[in-house]
Amino acid sequence: MNTDQTVRVFTDFYRERGHRLITGSTLLPPPSDPVLFTTSGMHPLTPYLEGHPHPQGRRLVNVQRCLRTTDLEEVGDSSHLTVFEMLGSWSLGDYSHSQSLRWGYELLRDGFGIPDQRLHVTVFGGDEQVGPDLESLRTWEELGVPVEPTREENWWSNGPVGPCGPDSEIFVWTGGTGTPPRGTPTTDPRWVEIWNHVVMRYRRLDDGSLRPLDRPGIDTSMGLERLVTVLQGRDSVYDTDLFEPWMRCLPPLWDLDEPSLRLVCDHLRSGIVVIGDGVRPSNTGRGYVLRRLVRRVLTSLRRDEPSRTLSDLPLELVQHTLDHFRLSCGTDSVVEVLLEEEERFDRLLERGRRLLSRTEYRGPLSERDYEYLHDTYGLPRELVVSLHGSR
Ligand code: ALA
Repeated sequence: MNTDQTVRVFTDFYRERGHRLITGSTLLPPPSDPVLFTTSGMHPLTPYLEGHPHPQGRRLVNVQRCLRTTDLEEVGDSSHLTVFEMLGSWSLGDYSHSQSLRWGYELLRDGFGIPDQRLHVTVFGGDEQVGPDLESLRTWEELGVPVEPTREENWWSNGPVGPCGPDSEIFVWTGGTGTPPRGTPTTDPRWVEIWNHVVMRYRRLDDGSLRPLDRPGIDTSMGLERLVTVLQGRDSVYDTDLFEPWMRCLPPLWDLDEPSLRLVCDHLRSGIVVIGDGVRPSNTGRGYVLRRLVRRVLTSLRRDEPSRTLSDLPLELVQHTLDHFRLSCGTDSVVEVLLEEEERFDRLLERGRRLLSRTEYRGPLSERDYEYLHDTYGLPRELVVSLHGSR
């Protein structure tokens, strides 16, 4: 099953059960929201999970694109992506947690064809403030899926205050078809978490206490790329159909080690989406995130071969990304932004090289040097480090 089919199976399943498909088509939260980018499927729904009526009703389904910069340093491993998509379903005070888990099980088994022997779940086992989640425990026992109770791992919140509650996480065995499942999700990492079903039952207040919400809701989310990796039996998201054109086009063009290749794919793809959503490089906020993405790509490309340029980026990859994220801005405008940013980076590099060739910068650099080079000449620390180290 390819990625598009996977999305369709998910959204159709919930639509057939009375859920309205809401739009998740931009990374930019509304202007009243202080965060730079949408970081999870539930983020835009926070007011509704806290009780405000949603204009589209009480059952919702969504594919939300998200961006997280907290993981930037981890990009290059087999699973972390900067821009990714979340499949989500919500009951805003409508059906029960048990119903949500039953549908989740049905969809994984019948819709996605995951045999139930490959499933394991965890549930909230209780702590000093809240008792164990017996409803989930019973539901899974009735369905015959092995359950492991935990404490912290099965409590979900989006921050120190705000809506929160116990959750139930669904894991799939990824140890290979020849290796029967072993252990439990907390004892064997081959159990990979794919789906989280939260009962938003409380609001945590400033003093740490919990106030029950008048109308508990259900919030579920499943990372699309991880799901696709599992369904396609791959070890890495870069080996799925989502990255097939990237892995076909880039290696013949730029001979990179595996982590750098992954970083270049991820950051370029993310950059294309961010540009498609209307962001332009700058020194603050969203524009700075975009600038960092492009500069990290250029730094990786130029490490071994200074003549590499984004002018060589195949248009097919830009188009593929725009199509996948349903962006209609066209490849030309995206490429223009990337190339302008490359030129700006080249000018900065030139300035940096000239400055660092001065005698006072021959030896190790002090904190004051870094600050001065940044504040006076606009040279970011990571750039100075790489220029200084490469001499
Ligand atoms: N909001 C929950 C999560 O992100 C479903 O795991």
